[in-house]
Amino acid sequence: MGTVGQQARSGNDIGVMLGATVDLLGARIGLSSDPLSGTDQRMWIRRDVGVWQLGGLWIGGWFQWGSEPESRAEPGDILCAVCLSGVTEEILMLAFLGGTGPEGKGLALRLAMAGESVVIGSRDAGRAQEAADELLELAPGKAISGAVNGDAAEQSDVVFLTMPYNGMSPTISGVDDALSGKIVVTVIAPMRFERGVGAIAEEVAAGSAAEEAQAAAPNAKVVAAFQNVSAEELLKPGVTLDEDVVICGDDADAKGRVTDLTRLIPNLRPVDGGALYNAKYVEQITPLLVNINRIYRTHSGVRITGV
Ligand SMILES: NC(=O)c1ccc[n+]([C@@H]2O[C@H](COP(=O)([O-])OP(=O)(O)OC[C@H]3O[C@@H](n4cnc5c(N)ncnc54)[C@H](OP(=O)(O)O)[C@@H]3O)[C@@H](O)[C@H]2O)c1
Repeated sequence: MGTVGQQARSGNDIGVMLGATVDLLGARIGLSSDPLSGTDQRMWIRRDVGVWQLGGLWIGGWFQWGSEPESRAEPGDILCAVCLSGVTEEILMLAFLGGTGPEGKGLALRLAMAGESVVIGSRDAGRAQEAADELLELAPGKAISGAVNGDAAEQSDVVFLTMPYNGMSPTISGVDDALSGKIVVTVIAPMRFERGVGAIAEEVAAGSAAEEAQAAAPNAKVVAAFQNVSAEELLKPGVTLDEDVVICGDDADAKGRVTDLTRLIPNLRPVDGGALYNAKYVEQITPLLVNINRIYRTHSGVRITGV
């Protein structure tokens, strides 16, 4: 990553530095130069000791081991610096609203295992933290936290709706400002159980839960995915899921992001399901799978052939 910053060293130097850096083993290795004088090239290894965000700025302190041809510091000197930079290293966060249930926890677990930062959302902060702690036991050291739904949505760039269908609209209306401009992934398959039949798809006036979500959050980019992936399988970290995830949405970039996230879970294959309009077909497969699961005592999934 390149940095542009203002930097003060040992109280006797202030200047503008331009440089390029790479992150390696928790440290940052860089080559920088003073574009004004053109003389102050240096190589350095830096370890950040604290970074705080103030508005759009990041303020950080670090220890630096550097080598400078101009010899104002010898190689091996430890320099202390303060950086004010408008260039930020963005931490992308995934929120799972209603993530205290098995489906949200399962997806959060798998994506956290793949290195994503996830936050479990709930109507209750305590339940959210409990679910996050549970997942941390399955995936120690991973970036998993808990928060109430509104805070979880606020701090994330991708927001998963992982509650039952009847909780979807109330949840969206409680957090809709926080969804504006963001990717919202619905995994919801509206269904109910009927004696003698088993699981049946619930009628949705908008066509699908996904289209209803898009109407309720018009400034969000709604993508429908994962409705057919079994929570029980997701929650077993040792189990490899070998199935397809049909992804429907009207925003190509949002669909691309969800496609990339799907690929992070080993052996899940994303399949482009076209427009959000098609989400109804994918949602309605889930009750069929539930009934198949009962017959075969398994956790079935979908596989699209020919693609
Ligand atoms: N389970 C599966 O195998 C599976 C597979 C594919 C798709 N799905 C879909 O994934 C979604 C979640 O499934 P799940 O089995 O994890 O659901 P769940 O356990 O029934 O519910 C998940 C969480 O949603 C919140 N919630 C429940 N009712 C709510 C309401 N009226 N308003 C707002 N929040 C509410 C609760 O969290 P708090 O009380 O903590 O807020 C609950 O823990 C469903 O839409 C389902 O169709 C499930």
